[in-house]
Amino acid sequence: MEKLVSLAKRRGFVFQSSEIYGGLGSVWDYGPLGVELKKNIKERWWRSMVHEREDIEGLDAAILMHPKVWEASGHVAGFTDPLVDCKQCKNRFRADDPRLKGPPGDPNTKCPVCGNKGTLTAPRMFNLMFKTFMGPVEEQAAVIYLRPETAQGIYVNYLNVLQSSRQKIPFGIAQIGKAFRNEITPGNFIFRTREFEQMEMQFFVKPGSDGEWFEFWRAERFKWLQGLGIRAERLRWHQHGKDELAHYAKDAYDIEYEFPFGWQEFEGIHNRTDFDLSRHQEHSGKKLEYVDTATNERFVPYVIETSAGADRTALVVMCDAYHEDDVEGEKRVVLRFRPSLAPLKAAVFPLVNKDGMPELARKLYDALRGQFNVFYDDGGSIGRRYRRQDEAGTPFGITVDGQSTQDGTVTVRDRDTLKQDRVDSGRLVDYLRDKLAG
Ligand code: GAP
Repeated sequence: MEKLVSLAKRRGFVFQSSEIYGGLGSVWDYGPLGVELKKNIKERWWRSMVHEREDIEGLDAAILMHPKVWEASGHVAGFTDPLVDCKQCKNRFRADDPRLKGPPGDPNTKCPVCGNKGTLTAPRMFNLMFKTFMGPVEEQAAVIYLRPETAQGIYVNYLNVLQSSRQKIPFGIAQIGKAFRNEITPGNFIFRTREFEQMEMQFFVKPGSDGEWFEFWRAERFKWLQGLGIRAERLRWHQHGKDELAHYAKDAYDIEYEFPFGWQEFEGIHNRTDFDLSRHQEHSGKKLEYVDTATNERFVPYVIETSAGADRTALVVMCDAYHEDDVEGEKRVVLRFRPSLAPLKAAVFPLVNKDGMPELARKLYDALRGQFNVFYDDGGSIGRRYRRQDEAGTPFGITVDGQSTQDGTVTVRDRDTLKQDRVDSGRLVDYLRDKLAG
């Protein structure tokens, strides 16, 4: 994992937030390549969820919501983790932290950081929602929360979307947006952070058909992930046992990936029943029933949720793409992104900075820039320039050499096979478009 974190910084994927001030715990910034990678993942998700489906609408609800939303959803009362403090070294742990050997509060249990016995407090419940104040007065009545999940923005807009889009059940609402959780023990790079992005879709169905739709969305989501090029053997399902189910869920499956730090979930499919809509109906006093005009039946829909973290999915894609190869006795680090996800699609290099090569390379770069995200690099040996782009996961390296200035052809190096094709520069856009389609 350290190797990936260091590559992510070196190549401009991810930086620690506020690094020049010593960093802010578990908050990360996406650099030039990281923002492209995450955007490609989000766009692919949006296309498959919203544009390619007749029965799903998009939404972008605000992060700040009426505080009653979080009372209704159960987050004020129940979105808590058991927290344990070490009185000696002041470190904090979740009570279920596997490093704690023995019950916290027990005089024989050791602190996993300072090693002292009996210094851990008994667990106390800690709410994970970030609080802030709305308006100029910092008083209890002005408390609002940064949303800990995007889903609630969808539930409170369910009727607005239903009526304005003229959808009929079954139908869904999809949203991508920031969520915030004051995690007690965040970590593992961008795996668990305090500010992150979710890609969530809530599918509203008739009670009784929820089991079938649950299975449908499980299959769809797995297919989508395989389409990202993630190795199937590193993916698995985990069904929540009774003790793991969230307060709203009747059934839930996690999709787990085998990260360098072990199997961990990065997406969940949840059968949330009518819990959320019923609670909002109760707390707002506004009817959220669906009326089936064909049968005159009235019911509060059940919800099947697909909930993925954009950051965690980006981490999965990065971990899965990371390879160390041996090329002619030299180690090469390469990110084998699927071309459609790669932040940069191609890099253009003049072989040497003379004999008309830089001018031709620049001209090509300018022509390609309007079509693809491409990079120009004329610094250092051609070998070093290739290696830098391998680390960035750029699928194609286009080199302008002596022959190019004679006949207008260039070499195109494939990141994975290392094979070089000689391509007429006039055909380059079509050539790349074909190759990038995957
Ligand atoms: N609306 C349901 C919900 O929020 P969740 O399992 O708590 O369910 C869904 O979160 C997804 O959001 C997770 O699978 C994960 O990818 C992402 N996620 C949750 N907490 C996160 C955190 N602290 N840092 C990064 N991603 C997180």
